Amino acid sequence: MILAWIIYLCFLLFLTFLMFLLFLELFLDVFGKKVPYVRSETKSIQIVLENINPEQGQILYDFGAGDGKFLNQLTKKFPNIKAVGFEKSPGPYLYAKLLKLFRPNRKYKILFKNFYKIDISKVDYVYCFLYPHYMKNLISKFESELKPGAIVISNTFPIKQWAPIKTISIKNSKPTSNWGKIFIYQR
Ligand SMILES: C[S@@+](CC[C@H](N)C(=O)[O-])C[C@H]1O[C@@H](n2cnc3c(N)ncnc32)[C@H](O)[C@@H]1O
Repeated sequence: MILAWIIYLCFLLFLTFLMFLLFLELFLDVFGKKVPYVRSETKSIQIVLENINPEQGQILYDFGAGDGKFLNQLTKKFPNIKAVGFEKSPGPYLYAKLLKLFRPNRKYKILFKNFYKIDISKVDYVYCFLYPHYMKNLISKFESELKPGAIVISNTFPIKQWAPIKTISIKNSKPTSNWGKIFIYQR
């Protein structure tokens, strides 16, 4: 009887451990060299929203939409734009779809797609909160596909090869830190 309980407990512990690993991989992406699911800070999103003025029907893509936090706040202020987020990790994607059910008035879409594989030739704005190597890898896509005048906004991680048209820091942030800083570029 005791042995059966020990086996049962070990099985439960093993299952919990597996679930923990699954959670880490789905949401934090710790086993790859990819970017984990971390949401943009509300203050940084506010800075972005104060510094763009998209017209009705213009298109904004969120590269790596996470749970849709950025798109939610964006479409609250600009309900008449076409806002689409691309997310390739199942955990954040499913969570974003779930949250969207509770935001029926927000007009944004989240697609389960790799942003490297989408056409961005008609896009007016791209928003990124990724990692430095992503910003470097995306340059050739931006330069070959984005139309002239399109805006690229990067949270925290600058595109080192491009000169920003604007750089805005969060109030009271350390001057030496890029965390939450917004870099705006124009093609
Ligand atoms: C730091 S989170 C940002 C989430 C959201 N944009 C925000 O600002 O709150 C970056 C997201 O990009 C996703 N991601 C990374 N590479 C991707 C790719 N190639 N295609 C689509 N999504 C990707 C990750 O899964 C992660 O959820």
